[in-house]
Amino acid sequence: MSQASIRVRLTLWYGTALALILILFAGTIYFVMARALRDQVDASLEEASSAAIRTLGEHRFGPFLIFEDLSQNFPELALLDKFFQIFGPAGQVTIQSANIQSREIPLSQTAFQASLKGNATFESVRFDKGVPFRLLSVPIMHTDRLVSILRVGISLYPTDKMLQRLLLALLIASPIAIIVSLLGGWFLAGRALKPVNVITHAAQRIADGDFTQRITSPRSSDEIGRLASVFNDMIARLETSFRQIRQFSADASHELRTPLTITKGETELALRRPRQAEDYRQVLESNLEEIDRMSRIVDELLFLSRADLGEIKMTMMPIQLDEIVREVQLQAMVLGQDREVETVLGPISPIVIDGDELRLRELLLNLVDNAIKYSHSRTQVEISLVQAGLQAELKVCDHGIGVSEQEQQRIFDRFYRTDIARGHASKGTGLGLAICKWIVEVHQGTIQVESFPDKGTCFTVLLPLPSSLS
Ligand SMILES: Nc1ncnc2c1ncn2[C@@H]1O[C@H](COP(=O)(O)OP(=O)(O)OP(=O)(O)O)[C@@H](O)[C@H]1O
Ligand SMILES: [Mg+2]
Repeated sequence: MSQASIRVRLTLWYGTALALILILFAGTIYFVMARALRDQVDASLEEASSAAIRTLGEHRFGPFLIFEDLSQNFPELALLDKFFQIFGPAGQVTIQSANIQSREIPLSQTAFQASLKGNATFESVRFDKGVPFRLLSVPIMHTDRLVSILRVGISLYPTDKMLQRLLLALLIASPIAIIVSLLGGWFLAGRALKPVNVITHAAQRIADGDFTQRITSPRSSDEIGRLASVFNDMIARLETSFRQIRQFSADASHELRTPLTITKGETELALRRPRQAEDYRQVLESNLEEIDRMSRIVDELLFLSRADLGEIKMTMMPIQLDEIVREVQLQAMVLGQDREVETVLGPISPIVIDGDELRLRELLLNLVDNAIKYSHSRTQVEISLVQAGLQAELKVCDHGIGVSEQEQQRIFDRFYRTDIARGHASKGTGLGLAICKWIVEVHQGTIQVESFPDKGTCFTVLLPLPSSLS
């Protein structure tokens, strides 16, 4: 509907603009033409009058004209398209060319007065039956005295006829031109809007839930082509995030179901018959472990969803990052005791960045926790902190199970755990790195992983230094 209305509007705008231009154009042509014809008529009258005066003068007909001779000697005065009249000094007709027939064409007062002053006069007049004439009256003077007045006249009928024809042609041609161009405009607007139609249909299908839809006609880099490609990009992103959301809910319920199933199963088993206090104690302990796990998942989920909603408050202030590294290293020594994984410090530079101390500590602890958890026994984990350009570079490297290249990007996804990781350490929710990534991004940094299966993994966090330092 909206497409149709754009089409109608475009066509109407186009048609109106064209109509205005045509009216202006036709008007201009008409008036220029009328003016040119009038000038031409006047020029021919002037020419004829001066030729006549010259002839009269050569044959010495002035100052006293011999009328009888005149009409005999000058049959050329009876030109086809023009008539001549000669008036006496009092304004009375003395002689006139034959083609004037019996018409009465008297001298007007204006022309007579002007002639007395020695001036020529142009006039447009209409006589009987409305035939228009153009008249030129020229005084013939002899020593400042008006001897006679020569008048040349021409019918304006041919020129009027010509103008009428022109007007008719313009009146017929203009509407035809407008109609043809309206049809053309309608057709072109339809063609131009066709891709929009395609986009609308694709959007409709997407609105119905089909995110695999793409617009197939981004054939050019014009406006529509760009719209199509932007639209496709948007749908691709929407598709990804919808898939992630679906995946996320599936994963979340799955992660919660496992501990619930265990707790339920163990509890039911324990309740089946009376048991020793020690047995109950064992079941309760095991249940507590699962409950801990569930509440951790719920806590982390809550954290992430609040982070998504932008509800996590960060208190940004200058933080001595190297101090945090040293403290976490001490904690890590304890964490790694069981599996004889030792955490050592690599190069550590004193670095201050603007950040939230609690979150940065959590970030580092998560990375170190992973490094220890996924290390082979009796290996070392190394933490280093150096300045790299305008950034602080924090590295946590281990010698452990590693992550294959295909999985390296996915480990930052919520709940994603590699199969070997599941086999290696059963505990874990798969939310740690998602939280790490969020923390790093809030600090306008980046986190990258570099890993070789069964050799080891390095996580590199780059955090911008405060601008005062740079
Ligand atoms: N240092 C590492 N070495 C090998 N694999 C790792 C390492 N760190 C992370 N991974 C992989 O990335 C996955 C996601 O890590 P993440 O920290 O998000 O979850 P987790 O450690 O499994 O669980 P959680 O940290 O929530 O207890 C891990 O399951 C593991 O497969
Ligand atoms: Mg972890």
